[in-house]
Amino acid sequence: MQAFLKMGKLGEPSASPSTSGAPKKKTKNLPWVEKYRPKTVEDVVEQREAVSVLQQCILGADLPNLLFYGPPGTGKTSTILAAARQLFGDLYKERILELNASDERGIQVIREKIKTFSQLTANSSRADGKLCPALKIVILDEADAMTHAAQAALRRTMEKETKTTRFCLLCNYVSRIIEPLTSRCTKFRFKPLNQSFVLERLQEICQVEDVLINDDILNVLVKESGGDMRRAITALQSCANLKGKGSHITLENVYEVLTVVPSKWVNSFWDLCKKPSDIKEIIQFIDDLEQQAYPIQKVYEHLNDFLMDSENIDDRLKSEIGEKLAESSFRSSCGRGDFTNLLDFAVHTQEILTEPLERRRMQALENAKFTTILGLS
Ligand SMILES: Nc1ncnc2c1ncn2[C@@H]1O[C@H](COP(=O)(O)OP(=O)(O)O)[C@@H](O)[C@H]1O
Ligand SMILES: [Mg+2]
Repeated sequence: MQAFLKMGKLGEPSASPSTSGAPKKKTKNLPWVEKYRPKTVEDVVEQREAVSVLQQCILGADLPNLLFYGPPGTGKTSTILAAARQLFGDLYKERILELNASDERGIQVIREKIKTFSQLTANSSRADGKLCPALKIVILDEADAMTHAAQAALRRTMEKETKTTRFCLLCNYVSRIIEPLTSRCTKFRFKPLNQSFVLERLQEICQVEDVLINDDILNVLVKESGGDMRRAITALQSCANLKGKGSHITLENVYEVLTVVPSKWVNSFWDLCKKPSDIKEIIQFIDDLEQQAYPIQKVYEHLNDFLMDSENIDDRLKSEIGEKLAESSFRSSCGRGDFTNLLDFAVHTQEILTEPLERRRMQALENAKFTTILGLS
């Protein structure tokens, strides 16, 4: 691990972070996510299955078509890049073609690029005389953003170029990849990273970059990143830039960078819902909350966390409130009207928490009768 951290940009070893000369200059302005990208598949943490299969492939100097799927920041791109570097050594940049499926609109562009790339000849020896596979790798990021028609066309391209080219499809949602493609690839699920791995990696980066931060605060940063290492590393770098060298990163810095909704807002929201308070009070509160301009989905996420952790709301009520929360969150994600959606959620939650179930059922029946009489249903 230490050896990994002492490396400069993409495999150019430097003596040590403090004594390195040219390589340090090169990496100085790199975003940390690039600077600390794993250089070998052994450096990839947690994704054991993918790592062990790729280790075997590197030994055998061959590669199947691959499909890596899972949430962002879990090492999909890093793993295939590291494997390519190990397979091809210095030649690796010539041997890979990275395409972003969601950028390159239409399969035609992709096909052309792949065709031109596959036609380039690949030697089976490296400049240093070592053997390397006579193959090239096409990395197709965000493959799940391609239409089904484009995916079907890709299947044909994949078959045609199979002698010289291997494909590595990367995506978040495997269910959006058509079966004929998935069945041609060896699939690996990339799991959200365990907090302890992310914490460990961040602590190492802090040491090398002289970042001053307490473990408690680093833990909050890790927790808020939700297993996404890219998010965690980027947030750490933003905090470090915010404070400058030599000053301690505070909890407020972390909250600001990750736009965490402070718990006082979430607690007050639930306090309001637990008592039969005046609607004006709720409106005023939501108005104030909106003024803070926290991303609305973050607010829902925190409300959900609070609901799940709350010990004095029984499970049946939790499920009722959870359903309302999902509904409001979905409506907000579809468009505007955050204020109305939050208000609707608050009023319903208040009703659920303060009125007995029987009374609510009676009320619902009354409402149904009323709408039937008026012919509104
Ligand atoms: N499993 C992992 N092991 C080590 N570092 C990781 C891992 N996953 C992510 N990272 C770090 O997070 C950054 C983003 O990872 P990346 O491979 O681009 O994620 P993805 O392609 O899954 O979105 C990398 O630069 C790397 O530093
Ligand atoms: Mg990626």
